[in-house]
Amino acid sequence: MKSVGSKEKSKTRVTLAGPDDAISIARMCQELREYELSLLPKWAKRIQEHWEKGATPEKIARMIADPSRVVLIAKDPDGGATGFLSARVTVAQDGFKEGEIETIFVKKDHRKKGVGTLLLKEAETRLKEKGCSAASVIVYSNNSKARQFYLSRGYSPLIESFKKNL
Ligand SMILES: CC(C)(COP(=O)(O)OP(=O)(O)OC[C@H]1O[C@@H](n2cnc3c(N)ncnc32)[C@H](O)[C@@H]1OP(=O)(O)O)[C@@H](O)C(=O)NCCC(=O)NCCS
Repeated sequence: MKSVGSKEKSKTRVTLAGPDDAISIARMCQELREYELSLLPKWAKRIQEHWEKGATPEKIARMIADPSRVVLIAKDPDGGATGFLSARVTVAQDGFKEGEIETIFVKKDHRKKGVGTLLLKEAETRLKEKGCSAASVIVYSNNSKARQFYLSRGYSPLIESFKKNL
């Protein structure tokens, strides 16, 4: 199993996304949204559905062109997209820069083969190049796979967000 994963990792190419990648990234965003909604209890699902609007190719194209963002795409040797990551540079009043990882997604059949790690490492390198001294990410509390993914890559939980159905 490990060698299959290692092969996939070595064949995967992670690059900055271009305008032509907007459609495939928008499709992956939809898969991610469905996955995240499936994790939530019914009452929370209603709240999230209301707040999170679908990512259209036009919106993704704007994100790709935004210089304060890093949008990466992972592709297999045939050029098929296997995953993506988007991050945004935020600047505090004193100039401190932090990279906020907005989304990371790897297609189901390509998980546990190192693609997510490649995306995250590349994002951290590029965020550092943009002057960021830290990286952060928000994850649903019951997304245990994503929590484990970040925990074993040096991220520590700092803030917990609570919600109540009124
Ligand atoms: C979270 C996510 C991005 C991880 O992507 P991934 O490609 O599976 O990540 P990796 O393969 O690099 O690592 C995942 C696990 O596979 C294992 N793994 C990596 N390469 C491996 C290999 N060659 N052989 C066997 N196992 C391997 C790693 O040990 C890792 O386990 P760990 O997290 O306990 O360290 C992916 O599960 C996903 O897209 N989830 C749905 C979307 C989501 O929840 N996103 C986060 C919210 S923004």
